[in-house]
Amino acid sequence: MLRVLLTASLAAMSSAAFAADDTALREEALGIFEPLPKTAPELPGNKITPEKIELGKMLFFDPRLSASGVFSCYSCHNLATGGDDNLETSIGHGWQKGPRNSPTVFNSVFNIAQFWDGRAEDLKEQAKGPIQASVEMANTPDQVIATLNSMPGYVDGFGKAFPDDSDKVSFDNLAKAIEAFETTLNTPAPFDAFLEGDDDALTSDQKLGLALFMDKGCAACHSGVNVGGNGYYPFGLIEKPGAEILPEGDKGRFEVTQTVDDSYVFRASPLRNVALTAPYFHTGKVWNLKTAVQIMADSQLGEELTDTEADQIVAFLESLTGTPPAVTVPVLPSETGTTPRPDG
Ligand code: HEM
Ligand code: HEM
Repeated sequence: MLRVLLTASLAAMSSAAFAADDTALREEALGIFEPLPKTAPELPGNKITPEKIELGKMLFFDPRLSASGVFSCYSCHNLATGGDDNLETSIGHGWQKGPRNSPTVFNSVFNIAQFWDGRAEDLKEQAKGPIQASVEMANTPDQVIATLNSMPGYVDGFGKAFPDDSDKVSFDNLAKAIEAFETTLNTPAPFDAFLEGDDDALTSDQKLGLALFMDKGCAACHSGVNVGGNGYYPFGLIEKPGAEILPEGDKGRFEVTQTVDDSYVFRASPLRNVALTAPYFHTGKVWNLKTAVQIMADSQLGEELTDTEADQIVAFLESLTGTPPAVTVPVLPSETGTTPRPDG
């Protein structure tokens, strides 16, 4: 009887100790990270409406925004595979291989700025880039507007989304509609449930990984609501990774600011859904998440992780894999006799 009582009280003590540990871990984490907001943020100059979101979804899925009629945003940001294309670097117009890896569009509204080097201030500025980039969709704003104006379904959609504008079917409005749709692409994860008070949302390995992520210093650069995506740092702060992972040609933020100190500076990657978005880094040269974690520890912190530590950090990163919103594939307006034909 005594043994039974002792075992029961020891079990109660150890679960109380775990609960206390969880509370302390959560408190430390809440000083660094934020749970994903339940609703999309308000955007300056772009009031989000259901009509805009619906139009933006159509545009996101429409390959006719590209010169060839082959590439849509969805080609490189597949919502069924983590919001990216899982290629080393993206393939675009004329089967050209672009210079950088495609980041996920999920939760991108919470990043400080868009692209690996932060060169687009927000999602509406970003959306105009790929449509015109010669290695992506290789189109021109005039051609895109002619395409959209040729289809009554789109003219109607822009009319409903921008009722007060005199020039409704415009390149600016296209970008605003895509941005509106992208604000809905947010993926709450077990990590959010833990931050919100559910002790059981993370496994014990994930909790150990979270503690390591904070204590080792990863969280100095990967923090906030997107566990990254909110600041710029030199890649290779302590030790430059090999030239394959960090080639000399891509100087990152230097191209944006023309400041020498910004050579090889990149935005610290947002890490939500990182377990789904291999291969890693702007070059996409690393296919294994554990290897990417070890490279980070080495290059950014000058620290060699033990095998167990690296596994636990990977376990924590897996707790950032979220549930994507249900997205119904849109039925797109059909072409008419005046729709410009694919070219290239
Ligand atoms: C970056 C959306 C088309 C490949 C991004 C980002 C967003 C986005 C939001 C930034 C994410 C971040 O910084 O975390 C879109 C939209 C598109 C589109 C709305 C359609 C209008 C494409 C296409 C391709 C592509 C067709 C591939 C051919 C890439 C690549 C980057 C990127 C490689 C990173 C480029 C860099 O940082 O320099 N896209 N994308 N995207 N996207 Fe797209
Ligand atoms: C990228 C994890 C520490 C800055 C990444 C990526 C991972 C990661 C997995 C690749 C994400 C992707 O390709 O989508 C970690 C872990 C760390 C750590 C586990 C601790 C061991 C740091 C620190 C800094 C930092 C301390 C800043 C000094 C960056 C930057 C990138 C990045 C700038 C983008 C690199 C590129 O351009 O390819 N991190 N990180 N990280 N991290 Fe870290």
